[in-house]
Amino acid sequence: MTLDFYDSRQKKGPRVRARKAVIPAAGLGTRFLPATKAQPKEMLPLLDKPAIQYVVEEAAGAGLDDVLLVTGRGKRALEDHFDHAVELERQLAAAGKEDLLAAVQAVSRLVHTHYVRQGQPLGLGHAVGCARRHVGDEPFAVLLGDDLIGEEEGLLTQMVDICEETDRSVIAVMEFPDEDLGKYGVVAGETDADDPSVLHVSDMVEKPGKANAPSNLCIIGRYVLTPDIFDHIAATRPGRGGEIQLTDAMKAQAREEPIRAVKFSGVRYDIGSKQDYLRATVELASRRSDLGPEFREFLIDFTKNLPQQ
Ligand code: UTP
Repeated sequence: MTLDFYDSRQKKGPRVRARKAVIPAAGLGTRFLPATKAQPKEMLPLLDKPAIQYVVEEAAGAGLDDVLLVTGRGKRALEDHFDHAVELERQLAAAGKEDLLAAVQAVSRLVHTHYVRQGQPLGLGHAVGCARRHVGDEPFAVLLGDDLIGEEEGLLTQMVDICEETDRSVIAVMEFPDEDLGKYGVVAGETDADDPSVLHVSDMVEKPGKANAPSNLCIIGRYVLTPDIFDHIAATRPGRGGEIQLTDAMKAQAREEPIRAVKFSGVRYDIGSKQDYLRATVELASRRSDLGPEFREFLIDFTKNLPQQ
């Protein structure tokens, strides 16, 4: 496979802070078929916003105002969502619907949005590799479009800070039960002497299962990567499932110099999974000031009368 890459290997220099975010959103979303047959999984609504908007808002909240969405066939709705909707805005203005107009306009003003297409869904590593020209020679964040992490958790800002301080890639990990160790990348490493929430990662294994897992710490969908990752991706051969795995490229990077992991213990939803999608919807609704009070009453009533199965 040839990718149109140029060499970005850099010498350690002055500290550089990540300011660009890459959001891979070119996957097929098979776990949500048939809902994702004709619309991207990232456009599935959580209340009145598509899932991808929460992710872009999180990037903006961490000071990443340049967002590159990696898209593919059937993903045009993503571009339309973050673009101006001139006719709709005119109609809302004429009807005096100021709140809705503001909500619609805010989406297109959130960040500077850019797009690149991943011709074929060859894996997450390949999707990130497609961002090379746009990102260039600076650290950047990767946010998976189907992982929902509250902006208020401050995870991404902490990761951007650590990458700036250490000039090393930073990943986010979370403790998972044994039965989930076959679904995620799992890391091995040592806790930082000064900060118990930070790990120095020495190894990573993609979906090892309980028997071969080096720990219970699984990689979740937030990364802040130094640009030498692009050379590692270009050198990565297809791995598990015939896909170019980001975990394999990061593993090669960690072999050169340990990368850091932040142990996250806050709220995170994989909205590509139906269970998590339901939980995210209920939690977001309960917390919203306009919907929450009435919805919580409904939930209390509903659970009281829930038949035991
Ligand atoms: P997933 O494996 O969770 O997404 O990839 P998927 O393939 O869309 O979902 P299922 O398993 O078939 O339901 C994690 C993220 O990486 C992106 C996906 O869009 C998702 O945000 N991705 C994955 C790409 O952009 N390109 C790929 O080739 C693979």
